[in-house]
Amino acid sequence: MCIEVKEIMNQLSIGSDRFLTRGPRLWDSLMEIARIGAIEGDGCCRLSLSDEDRQARDLFASWAREAGCEMRVDPFGNMYAIRAGRKPDLPVVLMGSHLDTQPHGGRFDGVLGVLAGLEVIRSLNDHGIETEHSVALANWTNEEGVRFKPGLTGSKGFIGALRVGDSSISGLDGADYFGELTRIGYSGTDTAPDLLGYLELHIEQGTILEAAGVPVGVVSGIQGVRWFEIEIHGFDAHAGTTAMQTRSDSFMAAAELAISLREIALRLSPDVRLTVGRVEVVPNSQNTVPGRTLLGVDLRHQDGAVLDAFEAAAEEAVSLVASNTRCGASIRRTMDVQPVRFNAEVVAALDAAVNDLKIPTMTLPSGAMHDASSIALHTPSAMIFVQSRDGISHNPAEWSEPDHVAMGCELLARAVLALAKSR
Ligand code: GLV
Ligand code: MN
Ligand code: MN
Repeated sequence: MCIEVKEIMNQLSIGSDRFLTRGPRLWDSLMEIARIGAIEGDGCCRLSLSDEDRQARDLFASWAREAGCEMRVDPFGNMYAIRAGRKPDLPVVLMGSHLDTQPHGGRFDGVLGVLAGLEVIRSLNDHGIETEHSVALANWTNEEGVRFKPGLTGSKGFIGALRVGDSSISGLDGADYFGELTRIGYSGTDTAPDLLGYLELHIEQGTILEAAGVPVGVVSGIQGVRWFEIEIHGFDAHAGTTAMQTRSDSFMAAAELAISLREIALRLSPDVRLTVGRVEVVPNSQNTVPGRTLLGVDLRHQDGAVLDAFEAAAEEAVSLVASNTRCGASIRRTMDVQPVRFNAEVVAALDAAVNDLKIPTMTLPSGAMHDASSIALHTPSAMIFVQSRDGISHNPAEWSEPDHVAMGCELLARAVLALAKSR
């Protein structure tokens, strides 16, 4: 299979007449923006609405304007670059993803989808291609959900699942989402365009494509995600003088709870993904029994019934903490992202592009959440995945091959042209 892929790539010879888009130009833009917030190991740290995020937004906006786009910013800070079609009043074909990253993020997660969209627009310009519908490109705010909860904030705002000033949007460092938007100059008043369809290109962040020796894939849907915050209250005490039997040790109670949540999850389904990715221990002093511990829990599955069953069992396990330890505990859901299946017509546009280009591909589900998880609830949507090396993501070592990136971008261009009706 891998040999076949290589041969096809040689035949296609990236950048040749068969390709509308220019892979090397996309690659150069990816590497240029990666300098903003660069961290050790070739990674990036551009937390949402930080100064680094602002710099990346500014660069993206300047590139989009150079490509002749009108720029709009809505009240959630979502940015839209719009290339007018022949009938600008018609709903637009939107591409998009996100420029924010994880704290130890890579150079591809999110940013690839935004810059691939930009490459599509640049290429339409190069070839003087007119479309009936306008073609637009979104940078959604705070997809990652690191600095503000819930994640997918901008795309949730776009579909009306969050409102401006919503008190359920909380900043990790006490930061105020809407205040930070104003601070970095991205609190907009523009209206978002009406959508005909949405396409998001992203790295796979898993190993399915690599194992199959396939460079790009068409995504069937995205599994559901729920986030919970569990708070355990004990009592600060002296580490040397307080007997083990009389402590109210919030961290030990949290550790036992984390293990039982893992058991619950695995009993429910072997495909479940449960992560305790955040632990806050207060006062976080080596010689004090900690009086407060907070667990940030991420749960994923493609079946909403499994998510419901976990949540019910987790609530029970949390209430048991109070009876089994000398601590109190509470659980709160902080994000709910429904599982989605993508729209058959938009997927068909991708399949047609795949057939046209004769690129080896496959259909696969997404393990990661995406802005498409929100947009698919509102507008016919689909996604393209580009192979990730070793499935590594949320890590500076994230990597995708330039040829694979170029193929994904070309597929995106062709599907966009089919939907936006080029002449
Ligand atoms: C975002 O990358 C997520 O899947 O959590
Ligand atoms: Mn992403
Ligand atoms: Mn991510």
